[in-house]
This record gives sequence, C-alpha cells and structure tokens, in this order.
Amino acid sequence: MPVVVKTPDEIERMRIAGRLAAEVLDFITPWVVAGVSTEELDARCHDYMTRVQGTVPAPLNYAPPGYKPFPKSICTSVNHVVCHGIPRQDKRLKAGDILNIDVTVIKDGFHGDSSRMFFVGEPRIQARRLVEVTYACMWHGIRQVRPGARLGDIGAAIQAHAESQGYSVVREFCGHGIGRRFHEEPQVLHYGKPGTGLVLETGMTFTIEPMINAGKAGIRELSDGWTIVTKDHSLSAQWEHTVLVTDQGFEVLTQSAGTPAPPAEVLG
Ligand code: MF3
Ligand code: CO
Ligand code: CO
Repeated sequence: MPVVVKTPDEIERMRIAGRLAAEVLDFITPWVVAGVSTEELDARCHDYMTRVQGTVPAPLNYAPPGYKPFPKSICTSVNHVVCHGIPRQDKRLKAGDILNIDVTVIKDGFHGDSSRMFFVGEPRIQARRLVEVTYACMWHGIRQVRPGARLGDIGAAIQAHAESQGYSVVREFCGHGIGRRFHEEPQVLHYGKPGTGLVLETGMTFTIEPMINAGKAGIRELSDGWTIVTKDHSLSAQWEHTVLVTDQGFEVLTQSAGTPAPPAEVLG
C-alpha cells in the first residue's frame, strides 16, 4: 500500500479525530490513582468515547493478521510492560507505578492516536527520569518533521537522545501512517540513520511513538498474544502523537487543553 497524502478536507477530519483522542487522555487523567484497576480506566474511557464523544475506540476487536482481536478499548501498559497491555480487573495501580495509556479513536472515518505516561503517586527518581527522557525522545523526533526531511532523520534523533541517556530503543514496534486506516504506510522507526528512508511531503500523517527501555532493548510477548514486556524486566516508557507534515514543518494533531508542553530543551 502506498503512503497516503491527505487532502485539506481529510486533514480537517484528522485534526478533529486527533483532538478527540487527546481529550480522552485529559478525561481519564484524574482517575489515574492508586487502587484503580486498569479495567476501570478502560470502562471509563470506553463510555466517554462512545457516549460523550460519539467516537469509536479503534483497539476494540482490532485484529491485525496473526493476532486475536484486542478485547478492550484502550491499552494500559504498567512499569515493565512496553506496550499493548490489556486492561484487567485484577490489575490495580499502586503508588510508584508508571503507566502508559494509549487511546485511538475513529471519528468521521478517520483515526487519531495518542498516548501519554502517568505517575501513580510519587515516582522513584529513575522512573521519572525515564518518562521525561522518553518524552524528550518523542519531541526530538517530531522536530525533524518537515517536507524534504527523511524518516531516518526522525529515528536517528530519537535513538541518539535515548542512547545518550543510557537507555535503549525497542525495535519491534514503530510509528505508522494513520488516516482512514489505523496502521498505514509508512513505518516510522524510532532508530536509524540520518538522510535515509522515505522523503516526507506536505499532507502526510503519521505517528511518532518511541518505546524506550531503562535496561536492554529486548522484549517478550506474553501468552495473551498482545502484552509486550521487557525481557530483563526493566521499566519501559512510551509517548505518542499523531503529526501532520506541513509546508512550515509539522503540526501535532493530537492536541487538547491537557497536552503537556514540549520540553524546553528540545523546542525552546
Ligand atoms: N495504539 C497502538 C499504536 O499506537 C496500537 C494498539 S493496537 C491494540 O499503534 F489493538 F492493541 F489496541
Ligand atoms: Co500508534
Ligand atoms: Co497508540
């Protein structure tokens, strides 16, 4: 499948889907507290999406080739879970946990995909640092985005920052084109070489969603067929935005009132 360049009308619909995805993250933020189960977070998000927003949760029953249908409406990935954590009644958050919530909505035929990290109570210093460095990694990638830049520029910027801090980049999962389909061309790797790969053009939309491990890069899939964990049990963090390539550079589509500011050291 070729890379889709969106029309102005499609871009407007992507802006709306992106904002709605971010607003689900805003909505759930006050509920991320010690004692809550990840299933309760899922149920609240599901209800908000379907009843308040009129959006469709894209993960629910999502079944790429070789996967069984994902059973929930969001992904909740705690501590050493890298991504695709399945919300569960028996998984309760406790003080000191770090958690990624990944939300993808469909509105008017288009997808918006974003994830943020959350602290449950006060994080340990090394957990806070991993989460902050991973946020900076995402932004080091985003700021490469402009017409004429190449995908390798994004990956290289993310990898350089992560490794400069002693962390490692998960290789098996990547960002992706997004639009009418949840996962489109191109694949947006979070490592690579500057000046290589696809040349970006105005109107392309894709996610940047680095998964960064405090320890080694290796991962393992659990027997539920979805949950990905670090092989060495080290902490893992991830942030995700959906971005648009514009004539001026980039536009972050998954923005809402609660979107954290870019790190000062990356964007100024
Ligand atoms: N939202 C994830 C991504 O960023 C994909 C989750 S697929 C699911 O691409 F089925 F696990 F939800
Ligand atoms: Co994504
Ligand atoms: Co996502």
